[in-house]
Amino acid sequence: MTTGEEHDKRQAIIDHCLKLNNSGLNQGTSGNVSIRHGDGLLISPTSTPYADLTPDKIAYVHMDGRAEGPIAPSSEWRFHRDVLAARSDVGAIVHAHPTYCTILAIHGREIPPIHYMIAIFGGPNIRVAPYAIFGSQELSDHAVTALEGRHACLLDHHGSIALGASIEQAFWRAEELETLARQYHGALLLGEPPLLTEQQIEDVMNKIAGYGLTEVE
Ligand code: 13P
Repeated sequence: MTTGEEHDKRQAIIDHCLKLNNSGLNQGTSGNVSIRHGDGLLISPTSTPYADLTPDKIAYVHMDGRAEGPIAPSSEWRFHRDVLAARSDVGAIVHAHPTYCTILAIHGREIPPIHYMIAIFGGPNIRVAPYAIFGSQELSDHAVTALEGRHACLLDHHGSIALGASIEQAFWRAEELETLARQYHGALLLGEPPLLTEQQIEDVMNKIAGYGLTEVE
């Protein structure tokens, strides 16, 4: 049994897996959550109903890929590991298959600056990582590239990834991303929407620093 900070992180992973499904962002076991810990990461185990999770069932993956735990780590441990390795600003990752993010990803449509809140993701667009089969190194490589300078991306014919300094911030971004995707989908129904300019997004990025959950960075 783990105690202290590690135990709290394991419990936070369970809480946010449950929140993913309760919020309607995800269904079944199609999402996964990780938190940086020690020289690796704590991550939800593969294909385990969230209601059955207990702190001891959370897996640990070292940066070299060695895994510990009674159940294998999420099949997506590679992109969780590789994003944490590439990004010292990231402490937690939320992956899910939210409906509107996935609709856009199926069409390979990146999200352009249709709303000023896109600024919380670090720039004027949310990219789509090209398709590769789930759990593959290829998918991880595509995700790391799509996330350069950004706190979220879509995965072609798959779903979304959201990053945060904390698990709370990563989850907040996952929810905001799905809202943005829903707004873009709705706006497209009325025709190709007008966009904000890169300068307008940069102005928001300067103004929004320190707002709400952006503060933890
Ligand atoms: P895991 O159950 O292995 O986390 O996989 C779910 C998934 O969404 C793969 O993309």
